[in-house]
Parts: sequence; C-alpha cells; structure tokens
Amino acid sequence: MTNTELEQLVDTSDAWIRERTGIEERRIADPSQTTGDLAVEAGLAAIAAADVDPATVDMVIVGTSTPDAVFPSTACLIQRRLGVAPDAVAMDVAAACSGFIYALGVADRFIRTGSVKRALVIGAETFSRILNWQDRSTCVLFGDGAGAVLLEATTEHEGIINTHLHSDGANAELLHVPWGVSQGYDRLVDNAGTVSMRGNEVFKVAVRTLGRLIDETLEKNGLSRSDIDWVVPHQANIRIIAATAKKLDIPMERVVVTVQKHGNTSAASIPLALDAAIRDGRIQRGQLLLLEAFGAGFTWGSALVRY
Ligand code: UT7
Repeated sequence: MTNTELEQLVDTSDAWIRERTGIEERRIADPSQTTGDLAVEAGLAAIAAADVDPATVDMVIVGTSTPDAVFPSTACLIQRRLGVAPDAVAMDVAAACSGFIYALGVADRFIRTGSVKRALVIGAETFSRILNWQDRSTCVLFGDGAGAVLLEATTEHEGIINTHLHSDGANAELLHVPWGVSQGYDRLVDNAGTVSMRGNEVFKVAVRTLGRLIDETLEKNGLSRSDIDWVVPHQANIRIIAATAKKLDIPMERVVVTVQKHGNTSAASIPLALDAAIRDGRIQRGQLLLLEAFGAGFTWGSALVRY
C-alpha cells in the first residue's frame, strides 16, 4: 500500500509521511492471511537458507503481538506446517516492537543451557488488523510482515554474543491497544481494539533509550562504535534511526534501513531488515552486527551478533 493510497483514506499526504517517517510504502496481508501464514513463509525460508532438516529444529518462538488465536500460541499453530520436531518447545513472545529481540534472547538462553540444539526464531505481525484506518496518526505508520532466523548450538562461531533486554511499564499508555480479552468482550467498544499512540512522546523516549541501550551493549562487551560493522535497528521511523545514529556518531552508511519499503512491521522489522541486507550482499559472514529495538511496554533490547 503506497502513501498515495492512504491519501484516499485519511487526511494525509505522501509528502508528510515521507518527511516525518521515511515511509514510502508498506505491505498489507491479504484478508485470507493470518500472522501464522506469514510466519510459516518466513520460517520455511530460514530453514531453506540454513539448509537443515526441519525435523531437527527443536524450538520455535514467534515474536508477535498479533497472534492468530488467544491460544494455542501462533508457534504451536504453525509447528506442524513447518515440519519441525513434533516434541519441540513452541511459544510466542509478546514484547511489541521488541518482540524479535526478546524472542532471540529467549532462544539464545535455551541454547546456551543445552536445552535445545536448533531454534527457529520468527518475528511476525499483521498490524493492519489492529489499526484504526480513520486515525491518520497511526494508520500510516505500520505494515504487515514476517522474518525469521535459524539458530544452532555450536562452539565454532561466536554467533549471538549476548542480548540485553529491558522493560518499564510506567508509561504503558503512551503506546498501546487498550483492550484485551481479560477485560471482557463488552468493553471492546469504539476503537479499543486498535493501536493508540502519543507519537511525539514515544519518539523522544525512543531516541533517549536507544542511545543508552547501544552504549550499554558496547560497554558490556568492551567495544567501541567503530567495531560495529552494521547496526540493524527496529524500523519505526527514519528520524528515530537517524537521530540514534547521530547521537552515537555511527554513519548512516553502516545502518540498515528498510522502513521506506516496509513501514513499521513491529516484531518483524529487524529480521526483515537483516534478510534484505544479507540477500543484497551488504552484510557479510564474520561481520559484527548490533540489532536494537524499542517498542510498547515500554520494552527495549539489543543483540550483539557475529554473523
Ligand atoms: O515502533 C514502536 C515505537 N513507535 C515509534 O517509535 C513511533 C514514534 N513516533 C513517531 O514516529 C512520530 O512521533 C510520528 C511519525 C508518529 C509523528 O511525527 P511527529 O513529528 O512527532 O508529529 P506530531 O505527532 O507532533 O504531529 C505534527 C502534526 C500535527 O498537526 P498540528 O497539531 O501540528 O497541526 C498532527 O496532527 O502532524 C499532524 N499529523 C499528520 N498530518 C498529516 C499527524 N499525523 C499526520 C498524518 N498526515 N498522517
């Protein structure tokens, strides 16, 4: 869906959306598709890229805030379709836009304790289903998508060096979908089931928090900014990405940006950006990557990865 198409729905303009967000277009799932359907596509692509037998994958984690059902988890719902081990660990992780980093952090810990050998980590969302298409302050920002990585226990490569996960629920109402099932369906009125955001306030906290997060990740690893080959940020807004890079003195040439094409796909945005930069040859084996995200909760997290 292009910005021009959105001009037909709400009082907005292609120029405003480009200038304020960097977004030019976003993908919207077909009405027949669910988050699980997108996750299956991404998961199968990751299994094919890693060239492993899916039956040897013993963990599936889906980072999502738009699950197919209240239960079972989306991970369980797609487990069979992926052909992964029938007794694998399968679960969803809900951390909004930090969902992929959180899922990566959980899978990494399962692998390090020896509980699992191969983990499929998927970020998948259909945010188009939880948008108020009459609210121009949110509906122009988000898109649907899914991306996945396959992790494997090994001592031969560094892989995921460490992850840093945080949350602070104090400002939950700055970015939320106010309704959830435990409130009861009688409270599902007006637009309670759609994204509500005080964008300007979220923006400021995001830039401040991401700067701190990157410093923390570098410090804990005894690294300096110039050691990082690529920053792969959550794709919410080009101005947040650029402001964070500027604050940390990291040139934009070393930051992967896909927001123009995908919009904000929440938990899917980092694996989608990773996939784009690996497939077009920017990210090479052996390079040091810093993945970082900030989202509703607030939640935030980073992963230092030797690809
Ligand atoms: O992914 C998880 C975290 N989420 C984020 O990080 C999102 C963070 N926030 C943002 O990216 C930005 O705050 C937005 C893109 C949401 C908004 O940009 P902004 O520069 O903060 O704009 P604003 O909210 O301060 O609004 C500026 C003006 C307002 O008009 P007035 O009051 O100045 O007359 C809005 O009504 O822009 C207006 N506006 C729009 N105009 C045209 C808001 N949305 C639109 C729109 N088209 N779609």
